[in-house]
Amino acid sequence: MELVFASNNQHKVEEVQAMIGENITLKSLNDIGCLDDIPETGDTFAENAGQKSRYVYTHFNTDCFADDSGLEIDALGGEPGVNSAHYSGSRDFEDNMSLVLERLTGKTDRRARFKTVISLIKEGKEHFFEGSIEGLITQQRSGSKGFGYDPIFVPEGYDISFAEMSADEKNRISHRAKAMEKLIRFLNSD
Ligand code: IMP
Repeated sequence: MELVFASNNQHKVEEVQAMIGENITLKSLNDIGCLDDIPETGDTFAENAGQKSRYVYTHFNTDCFADDSGLEIDALGGEPGVNSAHYSGSRDFEDNMSLVLERLTGKTDRRARFKTVISLIKEGKEHFFEGSIEGLITQQRSGSKGFGYDPIFVPEGYDISFAEMSADEKNRISHRAKAMEKLIRFLNSD
């Protein structure tokens, strides 16, 4: 079976292909010739993931899934949320982390979580899979691995940031891994 992953991040596609196994062959947006800038204008991760998977289903008439992720911080009313990638107005990870730390100055409630929502459209029906990981926003950056907000996020039960963990360790507990595991279980049981 072939399935489109509505992503142009080849690294993500390969990682998920390795998790899914050989029964399902993943194709990226590039592989199906989709070079469009797919709109992501929703207020929630689920809306954005659904917008992407429905776009591909409608325009390319193929089963597919899409994911959308981000960071929710309690003391900031859930921000940066769906604006995680460009919170500061730029896509620069450093600028985005600086803005978070600045807005949390003096705040003692540092609770936050990363969330991923996957929308799968299979045989015309939409299914959602979610993963999240709770944690705390630190006072300053630590670590240099990973990407995005990893240097300022310490997952619950740990005393190191995501950016101080090996990729393997992060991938065992991350929001994305949890959502992907649910998707894979569904696909393999179907
Ligand atoms: P995406 O939907 O997976 O592209 O994620 C959107 C944005 O959320 C990214 O550009 C990052 O800023 C943030 N983000 C999502 N997942 C992670 C993560 O695992 N670590 C750090 N930042 C993340």
